[in-house]
Amino acid sequence: MIELKTENEIKRIKESCRITAYVLNRLKEMVKPGMPSIELDSEARRLVAERKAKPAFLGYRGYPAAVCVSINSEVVHGIPSKERVFKEGDIVSIDFGVEYGGFYGDSAVTVAAGRISPEAVKLMDVTRECLERGIEKAVHGNRLYDISAAIQQNAEENGFSVVRDFVGHGIGRQMHEEPMIPNYGNPGTGAELKNGMVFAIEPMVNAKGFEVVVLEDDWTVVTQDRSLSAHYEHVVAVTKNGPIILTKE
Ligand code: MF3
Ligand code: CO
Repeated sequence: MIELKTENEIKRIKESCRITAYVLNRLKEMVKPGMPSIELDSEARRLVAERKAKPAFLGYRGYPAAVCVSINSEVVHGIPSKERVFKEGDIVSIDFGVEYGGFYGDSAVTVAAGRISPEAVKLMDVTRECLERGIEKAVHGNRLYDISAAIQQNAEENGFSVVRDFVGHGIGRQMHEEPMIPNYGNPGTGAELKNGMVFAIEPMVNAKGFEVVVLEDDWTVVTQDRSLSAHYEHVVAVTKNGPIILTKE
């Protein structure tokens, strides 16, 4: 069952999402060649504590950090470390979430460390566009996989592929609620969307093949062919005024 949130619940989810966006925007600005990825984790912990919120990922199924930092061919769930130092030309996906007042926020962006290749720029632009296209479909009366299909179409039209093994999700009092929101699918199918639904929409787009593998650390997901991957995520409410992005400052 896909839960319908009241206006008040959406307001409270928005509080969590605003903190999430605030922290993520600060982390984005920090990414530079020469910086170890662990610094994003320590800054996230500091900022979230300042806001009296909790990092949502820390301890989730045993995840050891507050942030996921996934570099280049890493798709999602990269673990920050003092040994991983950003280099000129890297693309860095940062995924972060909080729990505040019993509700969750969850958001991700991919940013550049210094100057990056034209192909990397295009991958980031297309993935961001995939997220926008998906969000536009989060409208009362549409079907769930209209979101999925819009994301897939935009990625594939540009010669890229969407990851199959990880999906977006409903969000609210839990970080992961129904439904699962794949980044591929057939338009006009899936559950009917209704005002009050709240979704974390999160395209993961690979420059080449869609296949992914999990590394020895049991967390880091990488592209099987080691091509680049980008990831953007927003929490969106389906409302009578259309889709509202909640993960904004
Ligand atoms: N942002 C991720 C998601 O949407 C959560 C990261 S998994 C964790 O599912 F283990 F790191 F928490
Ligand atoms: Co998510």
